[in-house]
Amino acid sequence: MTINHQEIELIDSFEQIAVEIHPTAKEGSKAVAAEIAALIRQKQTAGEPCVLGLATGSTPKYLYAELVRLHKEEGLSFKNVVTFNLDEYYPIEPDALQSYNRFMKEQLFNHIDIPESQYHIPDGTLPKEKMKAYCEEYERKIEAAGGLDVQIPGIGNNGHIGFNEPGSSINSHTRLITLDNSTRLANAYDFPNMSQVPRLAITMGISTILKAKKVILLAWGSHKAKIVRRSVEGHSSDQVPASLLQQHPNTKFVIDEQAAHDLTRNKEPWLTGDCEWTPALIRKAVTGLALKLNKAILMLTDKDYNENGLNDW
Ligand code: GLP
Repeated sequence: MTINHQEIELIDSFEQIAVEIHPTAKEGSKAVAAEIAALIRQKQTAGEPCVLGLATGSTPKYLYAELVRLHKEEGLSFKNVVTFNLDEYYPIEPDALQSYNRFMKEQLFNHIDIPESQYHIPDGTLPKEKMKAYCEEYERKIEAAGGLDVQIPGIGNNGHIGFNEPGSSINSHTRLITLDNSTRLANAYDFPNMSQVPRLAITMGISTILKAKKVILLAWGSHKAKIVRRSVEGHSSDQVPASLLQQHPNTKFVIDEQAAHDLTRNKEPWLTGDCEWTPALIRKAVTGLALKLNKAILMLTDKDYNENGLNDW
């Protein structure tokens, strides 16, 4: 498998977003932390704030642990850092076990020197009638801070970024939304039971995310492989919100080998152009074709091979 730790060009016409693959989630997280640290230091030298868009969930945990380590062991200061979190459940108290406010403090803010006035996490306690004005104010605050230098989302199994569920418009702003049942189910492990998973959430919109100067989406594990492929190689559509990142000029996906498993370059590398036909790859291609067409290997015809990109000599 090709492992490229550097920023890369799109390798073929299948991938519509740059993809950086690391052997493990820890290694990928360290690379992203180093990139963020370099940006923070560069902005410090220039006397400017560094504005970060942050995510929650299991995905960014290693990233935050590494940023905390850089602070404690390598003197990285966050005094010039301003952050805006992507989302929060609604309604929820900030100190509830499942609150993203609590998560961010426990994973990051309590362990670094960022002033409290410089981090922002949507407030899940406001009455509904105040929510519209609150969300507009959240957008204004991002703009007043100079806009997001980097947004670092994770990705839900249905392709959501932040809590922008399938169907979220490319023009959407920060707002109160209804969670998909699939998302409530996926996040239920955090709650005593399904009925206690909130039905609503506050999330930055797709347009808020697309306005960031750079977007680095993180995804780890085989359970993300299918949605990574759909987002990177599929049509850009609001039915897979992460695929809308194809519209952003400076986006990359930083993923581990497991999450990269379904990309064409790994699954069917012969479709991406020239490939080195080793005996193992030939076996993989032939058995894959037999499974795909539900035929015994000896029943595969020249037509079957030709119609499935396996006509090289
Ligand atoms: C959650 C969050 C998203 C997160 C995603 C993936 O619902 N709202 O911001 O990126 O789902 O979660 P995980 O990182 O645990 O896979």
